[in-house]
Order: sequence, then C-alpha cells, then structure tokens
Amino acid sequence: MSAASRRNRITVPDLRARKGGEPIVSLTAYTAPMASMLDAHIDVFIVGDSLGMVMYGLDSTLGVTLEMMISHGAAVVRGSERACVVVDMPFGAYQESPAQAYRNAARVLAETGCAAVKLEGGAEMADTIAFLVERGVPVMGHVGLTPQWVNRFGGYKVQGRGKSDATRILADARAVADAGTFSIVIEGVVEPLARDITNAVAVPTIGIGASADCDGQVLVTEDLVGLFSDFTPKFVRRYAELGAKVEKAAAAYAKDVKARRFPGPEHCFAPKKQKKI
Ligand code: KIV
Repeated sequence: MSAASRRNRITVPDLRARKGGEPIVSLTAYTAPMASMLDAHIDVFIVGDSLGMVMYGLDSTLGVTLEMMISHGAAVVRGSERACVVVDMPFGAYQESPAQAYRNAARVLAETGCAAVKLEGGAEMADTIAFLVERGVPVMGHVGLTPQWVNRFGGYKVQGRGKSDATRILADARAVADAGTFSIVIEGVVEPLARDITNAVAVPTIGIGASADCDGQVLVTEDLVGLFSDFTPKFVRRYAELGAKVEKAAAAYAKDVKARRFPGPEHCFAPKKQKKI
C-alpha cells in the first residue's frame, strides 16, 4: 500500500470513535475490482472467510486457508483507497494458542497491508485477543452465530433464543470488548440481544442479521447485488439482480459467437475519423 493511500484511509481509531454516532457502513469484499467499485461508500471492508462459499464453492468456511485470506486481503487493499480493510482469520489459524494467532495475524497484516484482523469467538478467545492487541494487532471480534462453529451449532441457526444462551452471548461480547477489540460483529442473534450487547459494550457493534440498533451494518456484497444465490439468509436485502444480468449477457454473447457476429481487429481499432474544420 502506498503512503498516499494509507493517509486517506479510515483508520481503526476512526471506527472505534463511531460508537453511538454515525452508523458504520460495512460490506464484504474479496477482489480488487469489487473493492474499487464500492470504496467511496464504505467505511470498512471485511474480507470475510465467507469467500470460501461465495468465491470457491465450498459448503462452509472451514476449508478456507490463511493463503486464501492473504491473497484476497491484499487484492482488496490494492483495489481501495478510503475504506478501512479488516481481514478474517480463517479456521485453525488462531484457536490453538495466542502465539499461533500472533504469528498468523502478523503475516496477514504484513502481507496484505490491511489495518486489522477479525476473529470469531467469545470468552474463550479473550486471552488471545489481548495478546494480539497488546502487540500491535488491532482485532475486530465476532460473536453470536459464528460460522466457524457450524459443527458445534449443528447448522446455521439464529442464536440467543433461550435465556441462558442470550446470557452467554452477552458475556462473550463483554469479554471480547474488555480484551481490547475495537469493534464487534454480531451475527444472527435475536434482536433484543443485539440491542443489549450494543448498549453493554463501549466499542461499536456491526450487525448482520442482528438489529438496526447496532452501531453499523455489514452484508455479504454478493448477496446484496444478487451474485450469490446458493444460500440467501432471510435478512438479506437485495439492491440489484446482477446475477440475472450476467446470465443474460452470457446468452447474448453465445448467440453472437454462434452467428459468427464477431468483427476482426481492423473494425475494433480503426482510427477515428478526423472532424473537418
Ligand atoms: O465471513 C464473513 O463474510 C463475515 C461477515 C459477517 C462479515 O464474517
């Protein structure tokens, strides 16, 4: 990342200061062109490990590797100038020990140029979060429906319906906030719980399928624009149907190819006629 690009970016302290203020606008991004198209409107790009499903056709995030995250994280940093970029730590890259988490998070920061990492988990990750933050790695937390825990949850189910579940998730959010996260994603929890968490922690919350009262919102971009339909959560609002447009363009292209309607280069690159004066 160039020094000029770093100067114009929204920073981790900028986001941290948005608690209770102007809502934080966040989307996922996985590629340079998508980041570049969205950049002017977005405060924070999350390079989510959801890319495993959206970009690679995996059926969960568990098969996503550190190399995949680094490669996509670096692309998003290159494709953007303004938004803060946060890269997900993939499954197995941080749960073993604080030292393992630091080694891998340091690679993510150094090799992508991103500003922070995000990791999933609650109280059990607090020591690791504190270890990273104390050593210069800003961390965004992620509580509630944490997709890397899909096998423990037995599917992607809304969390926090029962009292004890809600109490545990609230305690998790407090623990990761106290450990030093600068912001927390709350995913797939019942609305009153998302509101309680937002009121209970001093850092901004970013909701996804949680509550309009969070300090910001994030969505998977491909869900938002209709480019991914394998699994669309009920809370997703579609702002465009690009998938249908891409399909239509491919059909029109195939028709032209079959009808031999493709001109040679002399037609494409013919010099423009000079205007007579
Ligand atoms: O992987 C992902 O897309 C996420 C979102 C909640 C931002 O973690």
